[in-house]
Amino acid sequence: MASKIALITGASSGIGLEIARGLAKAEHYVFLGCRSRAKGDAALKEIHRSDPSSKITVRDGLELTDLESVRHWADKVKNELLLNNDKIGLLVCNAGVMHHPFELTKDGFETHMQVNYLSHYLLIKELQEVLSGGKVVFTTSSLYKNSEPRFVANYKQQQRSGTFRGHDDSDWLI
Ligand SMILES: NC(=O)c1ccc[n+]([C@@H]2O[C@H](COP(=O)([O-])OP(=O)(O)OC[C@H]3O[C@@H](n4cnc5c(N)ncnc54)[C@H](OP(=O)(O)O)[C@@H]3O)[C@@H](O)[C@H]2O)c1
Repeated sequence: MASKIALITGASSGIGLEIARGLAKAEHYVFLGCRSRAKGDAALKEIHRSDPSSKITVRDGLELTDLESVRHWADKVKNELLLNNDKIGLLVCNAGVMHHPFELTKDGFETHMQVNYLSHYLLIKELQEVLSGGKVVFTTSSLYKNSEPRFVANYKQQQRSGTFRGHDDSDWLI
């Protein structure tokens, strides 16, 4: 039987929080993937308020602007699941930034590209052992239509038409 464990990034607010609420209602065991413990706990409380029987827990410390943090976080989640002989049935890659001013992360990538795209692919790779047979979905937007391969190719230092369009380019890649 497919695992009922669902892991959602960016579950502390917005769409991620609502996905978490919906999955918990559908009787999934939901891991709220967050960077801040305080925000994760607030999201958990908010879901419990509407459905006290929800099976949700917080996994904080996921900072997608930092590839080392992603590896470390994925490792912790993976080891916990392996210890319990569990697998992830659904990974929702939802955390994202939009219209962030042009800025390189400590890893040297444009912020939208790393947060929305590169770090999530690293996460999938690092979780592969506990993901086999599970599903992976991304939240993205129709703004990918503003992008095309020639823009995406130069994403490390790209300033397109004066305004960096990293969000739309990262959505095009997804
Ligand atoms: N809202 C829309 O109209 C819309 C439309 C189409 C697609 N989308 C996509 O849907 C997704 C969610 O959007 P939303 O509107 O729900 O946004 P939101 O309310 O701003 O939530 C974004 C989530 O991503 C997390 N996040 C941001 N930067 C992060 C980082 N560096 N490391 C770890 N987590 C980080 C945030 O965590 P913190 O709470 O710690 O900041 C938050 O939980 C995004 O991928 C967005 O591109 C949104």
